[in-house]
Amino acid sequence: MRNLLLVLALVAVATGQSSRFRQEFPGPYCAARFGSSNCCQDRQDGCAQPISTTLCYCDEFCDRGEHGDCCPDYEEVCLGMPPSEPENATSCLYKNRYFTPFDPNIVDNCNTCKCNMDGSVTCTEDICLVDDDLLRQLHHLERSIGWKATNYSEWWGRKYDEGKVLRLGTFQPKILVKAMKRLSNKGGVLPKYFDASEHWTGLITEARDQGWCGSSWAFSTATMASDRFAILSKGREMVQLAPQQMLACVRRQRGCNGGHLDTAWQYLRRVGVVNEECYPYIAAQNVCKISPEDTLVTANCELPVKVNRTLMYKMGPAFSLNNETDIMTEIKERGTVQAIMRVYRDFFSYRSGVYRHSAAATPAEERSAYHSVRLIGWGEDRVGYDVVKYWIAINSWGQWWGENGRFRILRGSNECDIESYVLASNPYVHEHVQAIRKVGELQELIVGTGYVPHPSRRYPPYGRG
Ligand SMILES: *[C@@H]1O[C@H](CO)[C@@H](O)[C@H](O)[C@H]1NC(C)=O
Ligand SMILES: *[C@@H]1O[C@H](CO)[C@@H](O)[C@H](O)[C@H]1NC(C)=O
Ligand SMILES: *[C@@H]1O[C@H](CO)[C@@H](O)[C@H](O)[C@H]1NC(C)=O
Ligand SMILES: *[C@@H]1O[C@H](CO)[C@@H](O)[C@H](O)[C@H]1NC(C)=O
Repeated sequence: MRNLLLVLALVAVATGQSSRFRQEFPGPYCAARFGSSNCCQDRQDGCAQPISTTLCYCDEFCDRGEHGDCCPDYEEVCLGMPPSEPENATSCLYKNRYFTPFDPNIVDNCNTCKCNMDGSVTCTEDICLVDDDLLRQLHHLERSIGWKATNYSEWWGRKYDEGKVLRLGTFQPKILVKAMKRLSNKGGVLPKYFDASEHWTGLITEARDQGWCGSSWAFSTATMASDRFAILSKGREMVQLAPQQMLACVRRQRGCNGGHLDTAWQYLRRVGVVNEECYPYIAAQNVCKISPEDTLVTANCELPVKVNRTLMYKMGPAFSLNNETDIMTEIKERGTVQAIMRVYRDFFSYRSGVYRHSAAATPAEERSAYHSVRLIGWGEDRVGYDVVKYWIAINSWGQWWGENGRFRILRGSNECDIESYVLASNPYVHEHVQAIRKVGELQELIVGTGYVPHPSRRYPPYGRG
């Protein structure tokens, strides 16, 4: 009898009000009480739960019409009534989805949308790293641009600004390298196709992944140096040099927010770095644990087995290369080189083919940013009557991206400035006895045991210092 009265009383309660209450304070309250039952009979003041700054009750006494003090989920939990519909509460519509001001914001790719009290929707309006519109345009352009795009899930939900800061990370050179004296190679006959990883099998580092940390300045430097140690030592010094040490220790760089290449090369020349195992990459800046006086022994690194090396790995001064043929000769004679490139938004979605930046990237064009990669070779494709010349490059986004971590890019037309800032340097290989072939004006070379003075020492190093 009492129950019946209770139910009748409840029906009289204005449900509009309670559903609104329910949205603002979703609970659980009565449902969160434990014991044999979540609810109490009659009046039990202890049968309460904190809500906002006061208490609400889960006993029968709470249910006194307008002046009741029941918890928002009382009807549902204690009386077994179906949850009331949010009758007249504000609700917003966004891309066929209804939500209320009390629901979590809707995430739409890299933007979030919130439902306002007046039923309108407000979204952030950032340019995303990738979106359906860009992919659709690239798909349409595929034939004319000569490369294919794909929808990488890694990019989805990220802002273009995040991509530019955290997936790139090489600053535009302070000094226009073009104006500097450069190394000029007197090239012999260059083949139509060359791939350093086929020429020096097993000695070239494949693509690593810098993660969400703008450390391409450290990656392109460390991997190119590693390649050249392996090549010049003929495989005796196969070492993966540690970008993490540069990230943590090179001063006046901005760590995961980017760095300058000249500063990185100066560090490799003056201090040197240890191997990857000794200073593993963590895609974040940490406290530098190597001092310039350290050796592999004092730094507690495992020593290499093939050579009696105790000193850290150092490189000679970096030099820059003039033009297409100089770059090709350098790669063929001494190994991979480092290139700075301008990155447009469409580059992130590159899957295969010979890249050139497309009209699809235009809206964000002025907001391009710089990156650095390794050039490891070149080739050419015949497309109808045209010959498309390309560079083969290795990126630092992992092997899931592009052509197994690599990409090809137009050669000979300075696509994305890729031929403007090309650098190389030679390693101080341990007990190096093999003379480097004379190339151009590079003749100065002392052969013997110990460390070989760098052949291009007479040339002004890249940048200052
Ligand atoms: C409920 O919604 C209708 C239509 O949106 C509106 O006309 C009415 O005033 C609302 N009632 C309350 C109590 O907010
Ligand atoms: C790309 O992938 C995302 C999720 O990873 C998906 O929401 C989107 O619809 C896809 N777009 C295209 C054009 O395939
Ligand atoms: C590149 O420069 C060298 C001299 O520095 C010159 O001999 C060569 O022809 C140039 N190549 C091109 C493609 O301009
Ligand atoms: C290795 O190098 C150290 C220091 O240069 C030297 O003392 C040691 O004799 C060398 N060991 C061998 C086996 O050459």
